[in-house]
Amino acid sequence: MLRVLQQEQSRHAHRIVACNISPQMLRIAQRRLSQLHPAIEVRCLDAHGLSGVAPDSFDLCSISLGLKICERHTVLQEALLVLRPGGRLIVLEASNIPVRWLQNVHLRYMSICMPVIGWIATGGDTSAYRYLLRGVREFPTAERLAHEIRDLGFQDVSFERLSLGIVAIHVARKPPRPTSGEPTLGSAASGS
Ligand SMILES: C[S@@+](CC[C@H](N)C(=O)[O-])C[C@H]1O[C@@H](n2cnc3c(N)ncnc32)[C@H](O)[C@@H]1O
Repeated sequence: MLRVLQQEQSRHAHRIVACNISPQMLRIAQRRLSQLHPAIEVRCLDAHGLSGVAPDSFDLCSISLGLKICERHTVLQEALLVLRPGGRLIVLEASNIPVRWLQNVHLRYMSICMPVIGWIATGGDTSAYRYLLRGVREFPTAERLAHEIRDLGFQDVSFERLSLGIVAIHVARKPPRPTSGEPTLGSAASGS
């Protein structure tokens, strides 16, 4: 987000809300964002229930490396609620390398290196890194996540793999409001 904002020409064109459940993380974000984009509002919110955010109020909702540590269906449903019809969802998340043997090598590498790096970085506590690794192992494949996003009611779902598939970016849209005269979901269902 910081990189996009740095490139942005019209710095005050949008209202941007940055959310996190952790006040400590928000203090760091506040410090960094205030120099970059004074219009960013930093709010302590739980992604499972964005209290105080009006339904249909955001053009874009993005979440990065958060779905695997949250109850993802609840978070995605909440995003669907606060997006305006036609609004866009962007999810960046750890994913799978589609070549099975390479994915196995990657997971083996992660299960050895991540705890060691974590142990060095934290002075002996590897728990957070083991927890992250479990999230990576148990998270759905990019294709599966795309299905889940579609099943929750989004449309135009697509994804792009980065770094061979170690991470993926999923993009989707909240369906636009039906124009007048167009059959609604309810009337289509009753006609079938
Ligand atoms: C792995 S970090 C990712 C941070 C950042 N989005 C990034 O891409 O570098 C996960 C972040 O999600 C936040 N988080 C965890 N549970 C959350 C929740 N229920 N609602 C909002 N934020 C949450 C954590 O505080 C943490 O900052």
